[in-house]
Amino acid sequence: MAISFFNNYEINLSENSDLNWNYVKDINALIAGKRGSGKSFLGLMMTKSIAGNFPYGQIFIVDFKRSDFYRLSALLPERRVASTKEEIFDLLEYYTKLMRQRIKFFETIPNSFGKTARDLKMPPFYLIYDEFGSFTSKLDTKEKKRHDSLIKDIVLLGRQFNFGLIAIMQQASVGNSGLDSLVKEQFGLVVHMGNATSSALRQTFGEDIEHQKFRFKNGQGQLRLDSLSYSNMTRPFTAKKLYPHLLWKDFETNFYDQNDEKALFDHELKEQ
Ligand SMILES: Nc1ncnc2c1ncn2[C@@H]1O[C@H](COP(=O)(O)OP(=O)(O)OP(=O)(O)O)[C@@H](O)[C@H]1O
Ligand SMILES: [Mg+2]
Repeated sequence: MAISFFNNYEINLSENSDLNWNYVKDINALIAGKRGSGKSFLGLMMTKSIAGNFPYGQIFIVDFKRSDFYRLSALLPERRVASTKEEIFDLLEYYTKLMRQRIKFFETIPNSFGKTARDLKMPPFYLIYDEFGSFTSKLDTKEKKRHDSLIKDIVLLGRQFNFGLIAIMQQASVGNSGLDSLVKEQFGLVVHMGNATSSALRQTFGEDIEHQKFRFKNGQGQLRLDSLSYSNMTRPFTAKKLYPHLLWKDFETNFYDQNDEKALFDHELKEQ
């Protein structure tokens, strides 16, 4: 069966140029930036596109601050959106459980040896985690350990099986209230929205990457994609514009095929 509208898991992030993100190749994204810089809007745009691209991305949301993302619970199946501590741990456990189910299933597909879920055109699963740092700063040591371990599982095991994470946070710090350092190395796409101090940018991109010193407006920033890392410089960009009054309709349309069971085992194995 030919799937003519298969788009190779790519979305264009930019308003005025071709800046394609392959969200299963450069899986796992980090979006950092100050208040009001456009992090959540960029995350909403990614969510909308990943859900609407064939094979339809399955969306899971953690929104501790109950902002715009939380509203999407009205359109998603049960167990897809979390905001309290209990719900967040439940969702992370559930997401990793689904991931393990897919890994198990993948091993039973004939001729799947040496292949990835991308090769088999399996629907991606994506966890969008807004205000990552605000939640983790509320956890005690034991809870933080449990949280880190779940996130680590997702970014380390998920890649080959199309299970991803978009972590949105004001400061991309490592340590007690921030990211585990191992996790931080796993982001194929790293974005910093808006203006920032050099030290904030070093925190986001690391010491070796040269960053841009433009004046940015809301919805503008700089990014680095693993697969485009021919230079050690970040790339400035203007995020695709979102029109809030149209957004809800777009989500209604793009979320029509959200179904864990169906998506988990869906694949198209090409004979070679
Ligand atoms: N891509 C975009 N298209 C249209 N408007 C945008 C875009 N990005 C940002 N804006 C404007 O900037 C405002 C702030 O953006 P957003 O809520 O995404 O910021 P944030 O970084 O998530 O801030 P906070 O830390 O407060 O959550 C939006 O309400 C919107 O008006
Ligand atoms: Mg936000």
